[in-house]
Amino acid sequence: MPNAVILGTGRAVPARTVSNDEFASVMDTSDDWIRTRTGIRERHWISPGETGVDLALTATRQALEMASLGAEQLDAIIYATITPDHFLPGNGVYLQHHLGLGPIPAFDIRLQCAGFVYALAMADTFVRSGAYRRILVVAQEIQSTRMDVSTKGRHTAVIFADGAGAVVVGASDDPGRGILTFDLHSDGGYADKLWVEEPGAILNPTISAERYAEGRYFLQMDGKEVFRHAVQRMPESVRTCLGRIDAKPADLALLIPHQANLRISEMVQKELGLRDEQVYNNIERFGNTTSATIPIALDECVRAGRLAAGDLVGFTAFGSGFVWGSVLLRW
Ligand code: COA
Repeated sequence: MPNAVILGTGRAVPARTVSNDEFASVMDTSDDWIRTRTGIRERHWISPGETGVDLALTATRQALEMASLGAEQLDAIIYATITPDHFLPGNGVYLQHHLGLGPIPAFDIRLQCAGFVYALAMADTFVRSGAYRRILVVAQEIQSTRMDVSTKGRHTAVIFADGAGAVVVGASDDPGRGILTFDLHSDGGYADKLWVEEPGAILNPTISAERYAEGRYFLQMDGKEVFRHAVQRMPESVRTCLGRIDAKPADLALLIPHQANLRISEMVQKELGLRDEQVYNNIERFGNTTSATIPIALDECVRAGRLAAGDLVGFTAFGSGFVWGSVLLRW
C-alpha cells in the first residue's frame, strides 16, 4: 500500500490589502480592538474582476512547480470551498479546464474551515487505495463579498478574508514519509452558530431584495460559542491523532492550527503544552481565509525552510457545521 506524501505546495492571495484602519473608516471599530481580540493586522480582499479560480490556479502552478510535475500528470482534483465563484457547478471543473487537463475527476467539497483537513484525508485514502497516484488538493475562499461591511457586521467583516492554498499529494513507497493518520468529525446541532442562511434552494425566489435587506445573505456568527468549541475540539483531535501513532505533543516539529483567531491558536497551543516554535500562525497578515488558512501557512513554512525530512507535522481545524479534525504526517 503506497503512502500519501505532499510533493509540492503553493499559495495565492489577492493583490489588495485591507488594513484595520480601513474598517475603522467605515464602521465603529478600531485597529486596537481588532488586533487585541483577533490578532489580525491586515488581510487580502479581491478587487472586481478577480475570481477564486484565478487564485486557485496561481497556487496550483506553484505547487506543481515545486513537485516538478506537469499538470497533465494529475489524476484527480479535490477542491475545498464554501465560496464557489458560481452557485453551480463547483470550482473544481473550472480549475480542471483552466489547467488544460483531460477529463479527470474533480471533487468539490464544502467543509468550511475544516475543508483542507477533510480534503487531505480524502486524498490520503484515494492514494492508499490505489485509485489515484497524484491528487491536487486545493482550498480557496472569497469571503469578502459576503461580509456586512457596516457596524452591524463588524464582528465578522474584520475576521474573514480571501486566499488560496494548494498541495500536490502523491504516492510514495517510502514507509518513513507521508500522512500517518487523520481524525474527522461533525456536529450539525450547532449549524446556526456560524452560517450563511441564504441563498438556499428551498427559497422561492432564491434571492429577494427584502430578505437581503434583513441581512440573511451575510455570514452570521455566535463568536463566543464558536470560540468555546474550537478551543476544546482542536486539541482533543490532535491528541486523538497523536495517540494513534503513540506520540506526544512534544514530538511535534510543527502544528499549523486553522487561523480562526490568534487567541484560539494560543489556547490550543497552551492546552497541548506546545512551545512557541512548535506552532505556526500567520493570521496577523492574512486574516481567516477559512479552508485556505492551513495550506497558505504550510506553503510559507515550506518555502522558509522550516520543515526537515522526518519532521512530525500536524494540521488541525474547526469551523462552521460544526466540523473539525486533524491530520498528522511525517515530512
Ligand atoms: N470592533 C469593535 N467592537 C466590536 C467588534 C469590532 N470589530 N466586533 C464586536 N464588537 C463589540 C461587540 O459588539 C460587543 O459590544 P457590546 O458589549 O456593546 O455588545 C463587544 O465588542 C464584545 O463582543 P463579544 O462578541 O463579546 O467579543 P468577544 O471577546 O467574544 O470577541 C470575537 C468577538 C468575534 C473576536 C470572538 O468571539 C471570536 O473570535 N470568536 C471566534 C470567531 C471565529 O474564530 N470564527 C471563525 C471560526 S472558523
